[in-house]
Amino acid sequence: MSPQSTKQIKSFRSLRLTLRFIIPLIIAMTLLAYALLPLVDRLTLHWFTRDLDIRSQLIANTMQESLGEFLEQGNAARINSLMRRAVQDDRLFAMGFCDGQGKLLYKTSKFPEDLTCPSPNAPAPDKPSVLALPSGMVHVAVKPVLIAGALSGYLFLIHDMSFVESRSADTRKYIVFLFVVLFLVIAFITVLVAHLSWRGWMTGVRSLLRGESLVKPFARESNSELQPLMGDLRALLRTIDAERKFADDVTISWNPDKLRELLYKQLAREQILVVSNREPYIHIQGQERVEIQRPASGLVTAVEPVMKACSGTWIAHGGGTADREVVDKNDHVRVPPENPRYTLRRIWLSEEEEKGYYYGFANEGLWPLCHIAHVRPIFRTSDWEYYEAINQRFADAVVKEATKDDPVVLVQDYHFALLPGMLRRKLPKATIITFWHIPWPNPESFGICPWREEILQGMLGSTILGFHTPFHCKNFLETVDRYLETRIEHASSTIFHGGNLTLVEAYPISIQWPSPWQDTQPSVEACRSEICEELKIDKNCLIGLGVDRLDYTKGILERLRAVENLFENHPEMVGKFSFVQIAAPSRSVLEEYQAFEASVRALAAHINQRFAAGAYQPVYLKIEHHEPEDVNRYYRAADVCMVTSLHDGMNLVAKEYIASRDDERGVLVLSQFTGAAHELYEALIVNPYHIEQTADALYQALTMPDFEQRERMRSMRSMVRDFNVYRWAGRMLIDAAKIRQREKLAARIGIQT
Ligand code: G6P
Repeated sequence: MSPQSTKQIKSFRSLRLTLRFIIPLIIAMTLLAYALLPLVDRLTLHWFTRDLDIRSQLIANTMQESLGEFLEQGNAARINSLMRRAVQDDRLFAMGFCDGQGKLLYKTSKFPEDLTCPSPNAPAPDKPSVLALPSGMVHVAVKPVLIAGALSGYLFLIHDMSFVESRSADTRKYIVFLFVVLFLVIAFITVLVAHLSWRGWMTGVRSLLRGESLVKPFARESNSELQPLMGDLRALLRTIDAERKFADDVTISWNPDKLRELLYKQLAREQILVVSNREPYIHIQGQERVEIQRPASGLVTAVEPVMKACSGTWIAHGGGTADREVVDKNDHVRVPPENPRYTLRRIWLSEEEEKGYYYGFANEGLWPLCHIAHVRPIFRTSDWEYYEAINQRFADAVVKEATKDDPVVLVQDYHFALLPGMLRRKLPKATIITFWHIPWPNPESFGICPWREEILQGMLGSTILGFHTPFHCKNFLETVDRYLETRIEHASSTIFHGGNLTLVEAYPISIQWPSPWQDTQPSVEACRSEICEELKIDKNCLIGLGVDRLDYTKGILERLRAVENLFENHPEMVGKFSFVQIAAPSRSVLEEYQAFEASVRALAAHINQRFAAGAYQPVYLKIEHHEPEDVNRYYRAADVCMVTSLHDGMNLVAKEYIASRDDERGVLVLSQFTGAAHELYEALIVNPYHIEQTADALYQALTMPDFEQRERMRSMRSMVRDFNVYRWAGRMLIDAAKIRQREKLAARIGIQT
């Protein structure tokens, strides 16, 4: 909406508000005036009549003596002269004198013909009267004239009352004038007060809609009368929100249909766009044909089922060797290949761009910066420049794919910290949900990034910014507080910056439930014998499993050291326990990863050298890509799964292992530094830096009785079932829908949020 039309709407609203007060006021004042005017007429007539009564009495008294004397003398000339002089008074219209016999003896020229003298026997009128004559209203007073105490006749005093009418008209005019002035004063005060209160309320409501404190600190005194009410309102909203969330948690059972229903009802089939660096399907040029690979990525594991449920478009880097061959002219390809449900839009990067943006800034800079896994982050200006440019390229692609000006955009992970800000500038009405899949460090650690302000500003272009745990949210809020000028509302976990409001919230990510292989997977026994056969493991041997990308944050070295420690402390386990480490090659272009791979290989070889005997091999290191279905077979075969990350946002391997064990067997050893440890309390929680403790937990897992395994696994399975990935997405989308509704309401009442 243009500022011009916003202005017009505002003045129209103001006029409407004013009229709402003025029109009833005019009606009330007019009715009052109509009721009052006749009353005023009657009152003035009454007052003037009384005046004339008194006046008549006064004149009669004054004339009494002279008139009596002249009457006694029978001096008609003097009597007429006396009366003529008296009627020279403006008001005294006429005079007459009747004798006691009812005869009019003397009169002045204007004496009305209709007036008759009182008859001799009738009592003399004691009250004056008002008569309507053709010439106008007159006041007639009849006063007895006494000579030596005896009645000698009656004196008629007739006053002209036309002045009463003109006075009445004047009074009416004054009253109307008074009413108009009164109306103007009341109207002015009322409208002024109404506007001021309305503005105060509107400011409050606006703040509320923006999720800010309703009473700003600097306005505390002036708005003090609103404070208790606003406080109550805020508290109520928070309670409702918390109750709703709690009700969701407890009552909604999330599945793809529920998510679709949510999109249908709450977001009215809004366009959903996902942006991530890693694509969900990679087309690879095989020996004879194009093959499809599913990447080892927790992000892809989580977002793919959501996209299948809600369709839309997923924008990602096309990094496969055959990716360009399968796209159409818009760089689109429908996926999943076997049953297309949504569109994958590929973005192309040159080798240089990938090196700077992905390997450089994202994985040598931000990845170690956020994980604090004792690998120094590397920041190069050239990498930063590529990072900015590629973020812009993805933002442009989102704008191009958007069919409306307000799509819901789900931005994934640390590859796109700048994208939300870039997008906000191009699509101000978009609902941007950014999810940060990795941990967020404390302000001191993050502070070493040379572009920390730019990164934070970019992220604050988001409508919602999600992390796995409340702890990461807290770190983020503190980081923003330390490095940016913003307004942070801790109670509602919102940040107001540059005219944009961002909700910072914890949404623990999860996996699909039930597992996609639920109906087709082989039995646990079959999986176990297949794996034992493939790896040449004795079928009575206990199997431990680790599944990770080959990444230094995953604690693979610590895990292998714990295995070694187990063999040292429990020699009876040698020959009876083998550990299988599946390690998907990852970011192997980077030196740090190459060095890490070498260390892992060396340690595995070292343990095998120490404890192998005949056909028995203690550690199986499988550094190669495994399709998810294959990984699921390993999960089902393993007696214990070890997740020993040194720092991890969530870690979905832990949840996948639990989901795969419908037989309710198997034990999870889980690092306390994963987000998953905040949810899976029945796992054996360890500090992976403490090798002996981890080894003890491993031993406890390998010797755990069946019933205990069942109890623990059952409880963790119900947790993963209820808190699945549809709930993760659903909760974010519900919050997004709520914010969209608020924004629409805000637009309707003419404020910018
Ligand atoms: C983590 C990140 C994801 C990433 C995945 C695999 O889970 O949070 O964004 O996709 O690792 O890493 P890669 O660099 O191979 O995409």
